[in-house]
Amino acid sequence: MKVDTVIINAREIATVSSGGKAKYGKEMSDAGIIKNAGIAIKDGKIIEIADSKVIEDKYSWDMMIDASGKIITPGFVDSHSHPVFVHTREDEFAMRLEGKSYVDIALAGGGIRSSIASVLAASEEELVELSIPRIEKMIALGTTTLEAKSGYGLTTESELKQLRAIQKLDDIMPIDIIPTFMGAHEYPAEYKDDHEAFIKILIEEMIPAVMEQGIAKFCDIFTEAHVYSIEESRRILSAAKEAGLQLKMHADEIESIGGAELAAEMGCISADHLGAASDEGIKAMKEAGVIPVLLPATLFSLRSKTYARGRKMIEEGLPVAIATDYNPGSCNCDSMPLTMSIASLQMGLSPVESLCAATINAACALGMEDSVGSLEAGKLADLIIWDMPSLNFIPYHLGSSHILRVMKRGKTIHLAQ
Ligand code: NIG
Ligand code: FE
Repeated sequence: MKVDTVIINAREIATVSSGGKAKYGKEMSDAGIIKNAGIAIKDGKIIEIADSKVIEDKYSWDMMIDASGKIITPGFVDSHSHPVFVHTREDEFAMRLEGKSYVDIALAGGGIRSSIASVLAASEEELVELSIPRIEKMIALGTTTLEAKSGYGLTTESELKQLRAIQKLDDIMPIDIIPTFMGAHEYPAEYKDDHEAFIKILIEEMIPAVMEQGIAKFCDIFTEAHVYSIEESRRILSAAKEAGLQLKMHADEIESIGGAELAAEMGCISADHLGAASDEGIKAMKEAGVIPVLLPATLFSLRSKTYARGRKMIEEGLPVAIATDYNPGSCNCDSMPLTMSIASLQMGLSPVESLCAATINAACALGMEDSVGSLEAGKLADLIIWDMPSLNFIPYHLGSSHILRVMKRGKTIHLAQ
């Protein structure tokens, strides 16, 4: 059979195969390794992964990549990011080093609110232009599928503009970018003492306008003591669900206020952050099938002493995922390899558990497990070729990149110099 591309002689391919579903508990310790392996690719999809000799004998090809001595993993699925903004907020980082907390800074008018005016003033084209180099860096670090949220608009038109920018980025960038509406990211300053009025705008104007525009796949909300309460979140999420959006939550990031429990009650596809999630919340998520998306780089950047209880969640049988949370405020981290390092070092995930969390379980958090997140026949040929001695090297190494090549749908989208 003639294919487009074969990759041969890989020392190891970590397929992370799971039969198209999330990995739970001990399954997260199995990277699905095939040694001396090859891959046949046609029309952007994987036709077969097998012993390299089998691939060489069975197929002819237009292009052959010799991966002698190299390791191949699935491309990363970064299932939580906020990459569409105008200015960076490194001064808040310096303020945190002087002892101010993220919440103190937000309540004093910094934080998300300080990102709103510049997004409002920017054109859709400017938002796209500013985001391209950020996403190019993520691609160079192995991200082949990226979820991206609005939420720096907070007016109907500015939110729709951010979502259009995300759609444009999906069109022009070589990776898949999945849009999430996050109009409930903060209360605009003028509504800080009148939540009811802004909730009315969210439910009666923004969600219908977002549905009419037809770009967003998910609706997310920042449920936390200083922003959206449980009761407020329930109303907004119910309206989004009724309108037809799948639900995500920023839940129990800093304080345990019942966010994980609400994610279970609402049937969210994922609950994200969970730095302070309660035992009851973890149990409720398991029963309801909510995927925990842990964002350890955020708590690292916030100088937190504690992290989400990833180990406990794995031991309780939850399909833990990890993501960068790349944003201008709490976490300016674009690197899935560094996120794996922090997941391992601060939450105790083994290197292989971190890899499963960054690939197949993350794909499940986007409802995309049929097409991405593992290397299996029929799925997209989204992969990373690494120059490193073993899989453990990914979280072990801190700093420079050991990625040689990133492929999306069988095409090379990044090649190391
Ligand atoms: O996920 N938690 C809420 N939203 C972002 C922070 C965004 C910002 O500070 O600009 C987060 O951490
Ligand atoms: Fe976030």
